[in-house]
Amino acid sequence: MSNTLKPFHTFGIDVSAQHIVIADSAADIVSAWQSAQSAQQPALIVGEGSNLLFLDDFSGTVILNRIEGIRIEEDSNNWLLHVGAGENWHHLVEFTLQQGIPGLENLALIPGCVGSSPIQNIGAYGREIKDVCAYVDCINLQTSEVFRLNAEQCQFAYRDSIFKHEYKDRVAIVAVGFQLPKQWVPLITYGDLTQLAKDSVTPQQIFDAVCHMRRTKLPDPAIQGNAGSFFKNPVVDTLTTETLIQHYPTIPHYPQLDGSVKLAAGWLIDQCGLKGSRVGGAAVHQKQALVLVNDDNATSEDVVRLAHKVRQLVGEKFNVWLEPEVRFIGRQGEVSAVETIA
Ligand code: FAD
Ligand code: EPU
Repeated sequence: MSNTLKPFHTFGIDVSAQHIVIADSAADIVSAWQSAQSAQQPALIVGEGSNLLFLDDFSGTVILNRIEGIRIEEDSNNWLLHVGAGENWHHLVEFTLQQGIPGLENLALIPGCVGSSPIQNIGAYGREIKDVCAYVDCINLQTSEVFRLNAEQCQFAYRDSIFKHEYKDRVAIVAVGFQLPKQWVPLITYGDLTQLAKDSVTPQQIFDAVCHMRRTKLPDPAIQGNAGSFFKNPVVDTLTTETLIQHYPTIPHYPQLDGSVKLAAGWLIDQCGLKGSRVGGAAVHQKQALVLVNDDNATSEDVVRLAHKVRQLVGEKFNVWLEPEVRFIGRQGEVSAVETIA
């Protein structure tokens, strides 16, 4: 029997899975994973499917992580949260603000589950999970052993963590711990946030400003399917940056602490005149060129062909080769996104 995955991912591509299991506990996840293994079928853990492109029907079990629960404790300096992996991320941001606990406001409106947030170290408007994460609780899918990684052990980096490498397909994240200082320091260095008054700004004002910027620029998946930024912002060396600045003096570039420089993929795509560019039902978003949208019943092939075109044109113009941020899922599981669009 086939089950549609349309309600369980945000790109709106019409694909199905052999089985869909809703998991309310760590034990449920492991049990569904091991049943699939015994039947020699693939299994995939999914939160809200907001960072996925299904290339095809999935010939195994999709396990939806719905582990709930938010526990709040405190010590003299910090609020300490322990949050079930299946909680909705934006709901957590709203809930903490309602409780008078600031610190997550810059990360408002990011789709997805709390348990997925450490995987690509979600980030927006100057804040990343790595700045607020205390620990990640995992369960080993083979042995059922539960263990905790502290933030350093998660090896967080730009859109990256240990969960994309060593622990990929080996663990399920079951809970995340956050440490939010009671001494709140506003972070208003990014975009329109710089216009807020540094001495009187409140967490709610930052939350509202972030929501406003996101609603103006980013397409709502409920209306137009998408998975957020389709590509990562490329990180290059200083020599490459200097050469690019000589040719394109206005190129946005952000020096990183390790000496590398982050470029804005959206700007590179925009400069190629690709906004609104289409392949079949897939299109480059008109307001944010880094987002590919399902504009009109796109197939995954449309999206792949459009992503190939974008990568090729940007590569030929700037000699910078974009890599997808979105995870590509084939019939048997994840496949290399770069190889798929190269
Ligand atoms: P899914 O897409 O369901 O899964 C992502 C990956 O994690 C998959 O490989 C999956 O197998 C794995 N996985 C999921 N749950 C678990 C688990 N419990 N244990 C082990 N593996 C698991 N991202 C940002 O960083 N910043 C942004 O500003 C941002 N804006 C976005 C805006 C829009 C409109 C959209 C659609 C997406 C945006 N994203 C952004 C991307 C997305 O929101 C994040 O990547 C989010 O963390 C994905 O959560 P999810 O629950 O949907 O994960
Ligand atoms: N730009 C253009 N044209 C465009 C898009 C962007 O010129 O079509 C320029 C902007 O003017 C700006 C620069 O590119 O100078 C950066 O744009 P923006 O501030 O919109 O952010 P981004 O780099 O495109 C990143 C994240 C987003 C995150 C925002 C806000 C990545 C891959 N994307 O986008 O995350 O919300 O910053 O912090 O790092 C996601 O990961 O899915 C995501 C949406």
